[in-house]
Amino acid sequence: MRIGIIGGTGEIGEGMAMRLSRIMDVCVGSRDVAKAQETCDVCLFSAKENKFECSVKGGSNQNVVDESDLIILAVPFKHVRSTVEGLTGWEDKIVISPVNPMERKESFVYTPPAEGSAALYLKSILPASTRICTAFNNIAGNKWRDIHSDLTYSVPVCGDDAQAKQIVMDLVDRISLLKAYDAGPLSGSHIVESITPLLLNVARYNRMKDVGIRFV
Ligand SMILES: NC(=O)c1ccc[n+]([C@@H]2O[C@H](COP(=O)([O-])OP(=O)(O)OC[C@H]3O[C@@H](n4cnc5c(N)ncnc54)[C@H](OP(=O)(O)O)[C@@H]3O)[C@@H](O)[C@H]2O)c1
Repeated sequence: MRIGIIGGTGEIGEGMAMRLSRIMDVCVGSRDVAKAQETCDVCLFSAKENKFECSVKGGSNQNVVDESDLIILAVPFKHVRSTVEGLTGWEDKIVISPVNPMERKESFVYTPPAEGSAALYLKSILPASTRICTAFNNIAGNKWRDIHSDLTYSVPVCGDDAQAKQIVMDLVDRISLLKAYDAGPLSGSHIVESITPLLLNVARYNRMKDVGIRFV
């Protein structure tokens, strides 16, 4: 199974590519293919340095949709609409949304769209056959990139398609020490997304870094 990352050059996307390319075939997508190739070079260099296998290739965001069974949409919420509407072939794909709509005001604030969450917004603009799951919303980009440390977080996964959700949960469970938890239907995604501004506020006001969640 090939996984593709739209916005795979970004803060979270590149770190995901580094870890995922060690366990499966990854296609890094970008609006600029040369930039995607730079991220692939980062993955290949890191894997070589640490004596890991690495399967990664770069391409356009359209290449990611065309060639991937599982697509991570790693772009800021404000660019989700133009990104999704600029690409074709979403039918029947599994799309993972780590997207958290939020703003930094006096503190970080969750700012969902009228649909209620980024995930439900995505549902409103993608074809009905696209299977959307919310996952990876609460893990900091720095942690993905810090390839020498284990990821010991809990990952709540929301979605309406049972088979797609199981595929996403199985993926989560293959990455470092992450543990997937079924967090219910896609309509519950706002709860997961809104945890991230909380984590950022906790980090800020308690002088902590890259705060995450673990269910016990
Ligand atoms: N950063 C984190 O720690 C973190 C943690 C959890 C969840 N998230 C979520 O993950 C998503 C990505 O976050 P990020 O911090 O990785 O974002 P980012 O680094 O700011 O941007 C990610 C990628 O989005 C693409 N992009 C930028 N401007 C664009 C535009 N105008 N149109 C289309 N694409 C554009 C860029 O890719 P190209 O220039 O290569 O096209 C960029 O590398 C967000 O929705 C965020 O809420 C982030």
